[in-house]
Amino acid sequence: MYTVIIPAAGQGRRMGCGHNKVFLEVDGIPVIRRTVEAFQSHNKCAAIYLAAKEQEITQLSHLLRDIPKVKNIIVGGSERQYSIYNVLKEIPETTIVMVHDGARPFISHETLDELYEAAIAHKAAIAAVPAKDTIKVVTDNQVASTPDRQTLWLVQTPQAFTYNVLQAAYRLAEDDAYLGTDDASLVERTGMPVHVVESSYDNIKLTTPEDLYFAEAILRKREG
Ligand code: CTP
Ligand code: MG
Repeated sequence: MYTVIIPAAGQGRRMGCGHNKVFLEVDGIPVIRRTVEAFQSHNKCAAIYLAAKEQEITQLSHLLRDIPKVKNIIVGGSERQYSIYNVLKEIPETTIVMVHDGARPFISHETLDELYEAAIAHKAAIAAVPAKDTIKVVTDNQVASTPDRQTLWLVQTPQAFTYNVLQAAYRLAEDDAYLGTDDASLVERTGMPVHVVESSYDNIKLTTPEDLYFAEAILRKREG
């Protein structure tokens, strides 16, 4: 069994909807509720903890009041990493901890199963998909280099770790004042290999307004 930490304490600045995007409704259901329900209905998930902005905790707990695996909502921080660390410090010790963005409502049980098994086997595992586009390193609008696409993966969440590995990684990042853009980057700094599980292109993060069109299309596909 595993515990999931769901950061939902962001601003949603790039979505430009004037409020935290995790409260946006997709087909009548708020994004954060969809995300939490994916874990509520996953048989290996034991407990769900969220990070929220202090002024949104009441709204969020009301929205999730009937979801029994939600154990606590903890005040987040100014960066995603700080939000997750605040929660990590509060959760009871467990074997596996997953971290999953509140803004990724289309995570499948198939990927959750694979990640959970991979985390037990490898201690650190992340969901990702192969890059479809060619990716270039660009500085000042000039191409610096073109990495071989065969080696490039687009990294998603969930990212799954043993409790001890994630604790150690967050402590080291704090000691070094290191700020990463995902959880695995903190684990990588400890020297621990991170296993990659091929996920689905449907597992998008709702980041900019056009992602809402993709979200509607994914829902239509699922409803057949
Ligand atoms: N998040 C968080 N605490 C922060 C920043 C982000 O808990 N200080 C959460 C967001 O709520 C989101 C997830 O981390 O569910 C992924 O972050 P991102 O997609 O960047 O969301 P926002 O930071 O809200 O969006 P933006 O960067 O466009 O402002
Ligand atoms: Mg952000």
